[in-house]
Amino acid sequence: MRTDLTFTIVKPTAFEKNYLGPIIEIFNRNGFKIKAMKLTRMNREKAKEFYAEHETKPFFESLLSYMTSGPVVVAVLQKENAIADFREMIGATDPAKAQFGTLRKMFADSKEANAVHGSDSNESAQREMSIFFTEEELFFD
Ligand code: CMP
Repeated sequence: MRTDLTFTIVKPTAFEKNYLGPIIEIFNRNGFKIKAMKLTRMNREKAKEFYAEHETKPFFESLLSYMTSGPVVVAVLQKENAIADFREMIGATDPAKAQFGTLRKMFADSKEANAVHGSDSNESAQREMSIFFTEEELFFD
C-alpha cells in the first residue's frame, strides 16, 4: 500500500468563500503535489458512500445535507508521509481546538463546515480517491 498519497476535499463553505486559491497555495508550500483534482458537487448517494463510517453518528444527516449543499473541490495529493503530514497541516476537526497556523484554524467556520477533509489512513485514501476518480484519471509515477 502506498504511503505517499492522501485525498482531500475543499468543502462547500470554503469553496464559496473563495478560499480555494489560498488553500492550494498552502498545500504546495507544505510540499504536497497535486496528482488529480476536480470541481464537483456531491449527490446524497455519493456523500453517503463517502461518509459510510459515520452512518450511526448523530451528525450524519446534517453532514450529508451540508456536503451536498454546493460545489466542492476534490483532489489527490502526493508527498512522503502524506496522511500524517496532511492531518498536521489541517489541524483538529473542531476549528476551536485547531492549532494556530493550521488550515482549519484559518479557514473553518465550525466542526461541520471545517474547510477541508483529509484521509485518516492509507487505506481510506485509496477508498476515497476511487469514489471520485477513475483509474485513467489517477496517473502516478
Ligand atoms: P471530515 O474530516 O470530512 O470527516 C467527517 C466529518 O464529519 C468531519 O470532517 C466533520 O466535518 C464532521 N463532523 C465530525 N464531528 C462532528 C460533529 N460533532 N458535529 C458535526 N459534524 C461533525
